[in-house]
Amino acid sequence: MRLGYQTATIVQMGDVSMRPWFRKILLINAMMMAGCGGGSDAPSVAVLSAKAELGKKVFSDVTLSASGRMSCASCHDPLRGHAAPNGSAVQLGGSSLDQPGHRASPSIRYLSTNTEFSFNDEGKPTGGFFWDGRADSLQDQAGRPFLSDREMANLSKADVIAKLARAAYAAEFRAVFGDDIFSRPDDAFERMTLALQQFQLEDPAFRPFSSKYDDFLRGGASLTAQEQRGLSLFNDPAKGNCAACHPSAKKADGSHPLFTDFSYDNLGVPRNAELPSNADPAHFDLGLCSRQSGDLATRTDLCGAFKVPTLRNVATRQVFFHNGRFKSLKEALTFYVQRDTNPEKWYPINADGSIRKFDDLPERYVANVNTSEAPYDRGPDQQPALSDSEIDDVIEFLKTLTDGFRR
Ligand code: HEC
Ligand code: HEC
Repeated sequence: MRLGYQTATIVQMGDVSMRPWFRKILLINAMMMAGCGGGSDAPSVAVLSAKAELGKKVFSDVTLSASGRMSCASCHDPLRGHAAPNGSAVQLGGSSLDQPGHRASPSIRYLSTNTEFSFNDEGKPTGGFFWDGRADSLQDQAGRPFLSDREMANLSKADVIAKLARAAYAAEFRAVFGDDIFSRPDDAFERMTLALQQFQLEDPAFRPFSSKYDDFLRGGASLTAQEQRGLSLFNDPAKGNCAACHPSAKKADGSHPLFTDFSYDNLGVPRNAELPSNADPAHFDLGLCSRQSGDLATRTDLCGAFKVPTLRNVATRQVFFHNGRFKSLKEALTFYVQRDTNPEKWYPINADGSIRKFDDLPERYVANVNTSEAPYDRGPDQQPALSDSEIDDVIEFLKTLTDGFRR
């Protein structure tokens, strides 16, 4: 295990203490850490390192934003699986909290085993942080919201650090990182983002593995008949085939599944008119091939591909997919199985009466959309891979992935 855990001391409670399962003093089995996921409810307690404790404070400190009202927790709500706090496709940020973001705010749980972006042995893109994998690590990621004009909107690293130097925990920051740390803003910024990474790696709230499904995998809870049917449909390559990208089985080392393989795919999610950036018909969010660095600009085959998100806690989310196009699981799953059998339900009709399938991509990239794998491997003359009641079964199963289950 790569994280250093010490023995029993009490976890300092933050806002997460209001989760029902946190109300009892949080007792953590070190085996649950670092994605081992095989833990039980057995009492033991994790300690956060001094750095992680600082990261925890920074994570919910609204004074580090230009608006004075926004922190990481604003968009990654600990009470909602560390995902978006509301049903808005994108969150509002900036100095007056009126600047809409470009993408949906994802859950940031179960990322501790994710790696930097790379191409695997088969040449497939994998890993990285953000929907397009552009950040190499949690630390790299953590620096960006502070300076994004649509998020915490600070003018510079020095601007952030001037605010940090006035924080209630500034003395602790100096104690951990050196007395003169605030006189070196670039270094201080680097330490602050390191602390945020450390918090996300160490705090078990980011990967509690405490869902009903985890309990079931440990031989505890049993699934209802409907949940069991949903699980079978989720796994069945000829039905949902969901596990192909959202793995549901224990890994060889006994660790519990993350419901993402950190790979990328192009699902042809319909355009979301709710996004202000989409008011411009020439604007398209192309995911991988349009990363800011331009490193994949020539890989036009990757235009429209986004990272597979974890489905853990998905039933607590109110918006789905990178553009927040769908607002309920029922709608999201119906889209999956009826995208090709009933395209008229999801896409606009062209002037000539034909359907403008995959309308959130320029025509030249439409061929990138995955049309070969179940459940999106059929045509309008065929039955959807899942019936309406089978979709309900899968949703019942997905609800077993919500953390905080108590028998
Ligand atoms: C205004 C809302 C907002 C704020 C504030 C915000 N985030 Fe995010 N976060 C997002 C959005 C939106 C994305 C996805 C952006 C993208 O993919 O381009 C994201 C992505 C992430 C990811 C990557 C998830 C993955 O699956 O790769 C992490 C980790 C993360 N945020 C952590 C943080 C931290 C730490 C902070 C505070 C420093 C923070 N966020 C502040 C909205 C926000
Ligand atoms: C070939 C890979 C693949 C398969 C198979 C697959 N998914 Fe996904 N899933 C993805 C990708 C990629 C995304 C993100 C796409 C995007 O936002 O553009 C996603 C997103 C989702 C989301 C939105 C989650 C969120 O937090 O926004 C849900 C829900 C979901 N999938 C459920 C399912 C279910 C249920 C099945 C089976 C019926 C399934 N998926 C099959 C790759 C896959």
